[in-house]
Amino acid sequence: ASRIWEVLSTKPPENGVPLKLQGWVRSIRSQKEVLFLHLNDGSCLANLQVVGTPDMGNSDLSFGSAVLVEGRLFPSSHPGQDVELHADRLEVLGPCNAKEFPFKAKKRHTMEYTRQFPHLRARTNSFAALLRIRSQATSAIHKFFQDQGYIEVHTPVISSNDCEGAGELFQVEPASSTVLRELSEASGKETKHFFDVPAFLTVSGQLQLEVMASALSRVYVFGPTFRAEKSLGRRHLSEFYMVEAELAFTQQQEDVMEVIERMVKQPTEQILASCPEDLHLFYKFVSPGHREIVEKILTSRFIRMTYTEAIETLRNHSENFQFKPEWGRDLQKEHERHLVRHCGGVPVFVTDFPRDLKPFYARDNDDDKTVAAFDLLVPEVGELFGGSLREERLETLQDRLDRLGLSNSYQWYLDLRRYGSVPHGGFGMGFERYLQCILGVPHIRDVIPFPRFPHSCRM
Ligand code: 4AD
Ligand code: MG
Repeated sequence: ASRIWEVLSTKPPENGVPLKLQGWVRSIRSQKEVLFLHLNDGSCLANLQVVGTPDMGNSDLSFGSAVLVEGRLFPSSHPGQDVELHADRLEVLGPCNAKEFPFKAKKRHTMEYTRQFPHLRARTNSFAALLRIRSQATSAIHKFFQDQGYIEVHTPVISSNDCEGAGELFQVEPASSTVLRELSEASGKETKHFFDVPAFLTVSGQLQLEVMASALSRVYVFGPTFRAEKSLGRRHLSEFYMVEAELAFTQQQEDVMEVIERMVKQPTEQILASCPEDLHLFYKFVSPGHREIVEKILTSRFIRMTYTEAIETLRNHSENFQFKPEWGRDLQKEHERHLVRHCGGVPVFVTDFPRDLKPFYARDNDDDKTVAAFDLLVPEVGELFGGSLREERLETLQDRLDRLGLSNSYQWYLDLRRYGSVPHGGFGMGFERYLQCILGVPHIRDVIPFPRFPHSCRM
């Protein structure tokens, strides 16, 4: 059987070609002598028109049912379609109770509504389009790195460190206590943890990427990360995909920011070129006007401002905020939104954060107050990237880890500074937030197939 995206680009001869097709019924129109069906198989947004006879429409044929059609593909004289399938045989493979099915023919459901049916929502045009765009975006990002000789590293999902130091970890243990008991009996000694140390789902692959960057120079990872954050907000998930890269021999924040700017623009351009119909659906129905916002991102040089400048800017508009901006405090969502608006919708790097606001690995600046760490703020989501230069000086890092009481567990990390240390830096981008940003989707739960958030893990 063929798939519709291929069939639509073929040019059948006037006398037709044999074709077998399978898909789900998107609409049915029965007239005295003819039956018209629209079929979709998820391979593209477009449906294929099937022309049959009314006797083919037995009682099992309805909106949502799965069918197999055998017939001949002809050029079509109908406007808006180049081909149509004339059915000789139609078989209902899986009937669908259209009355109870949550989605209705030719109706545009809201994302809030479809979100209630994570097991069925891929049958809607908008979520299927999202999934195709997500897939294209994944490959565009891989292509970006591969084309420049970055080496993909599979960093572990299970890790013993809290890279971000925020304590937002999910702990990993065998599911049943019997497993643990058996383990300790087998080894003849008391086993406290499965891995002998507490183990967690990773919050970031950064530290392991640093290991690899100190041998392979330029590396990246694109994989799932986990945060036990309590947040139920529109840009937080418990499980999300992160794109992280690490660059050895990097002296300036600017070097890392240049890479980020290209990493936003190049894949986005590729996605615009590779899925025009799916994107059109978003820009027309889901987020009208968002295309211009994306154009601006693609055509502007991103703005750079220091954290200290950002606080000054915000303080000049203090009356707008619930949380008063103050040097030394983290930027709030409302502050991020204001800064992007202040920059005319152009993404803005906020650099050189106060040391206390960033994790232990960030490199000290000379002012003894700030570190070479930055965030990239964008329209729709606020913080899209976090990045920094990493502290590569053994003594400075050793001091900091001592003060945090972490030296013991980070000896391996200090080794990287003992044996051929180099200035280096890197970044991480939340992939779902990226999709929100290019598609204009307000809620992060609408850009991931199976969203995980507090109190939600149904399947
Ligand atoms: O700012 P974060 O915490 O930075 C890091 O984890 C660094 N170790 C990355 C690095 O330098 N290699 O997270 C990076 C990005 C954020 O800017 C945000 O886009 C996204 O990951 N992110 C989330 N996305 C969805 N849900 C959450 N709970 C997220 N937390 C962070
Ligand atoms: Mg961050």
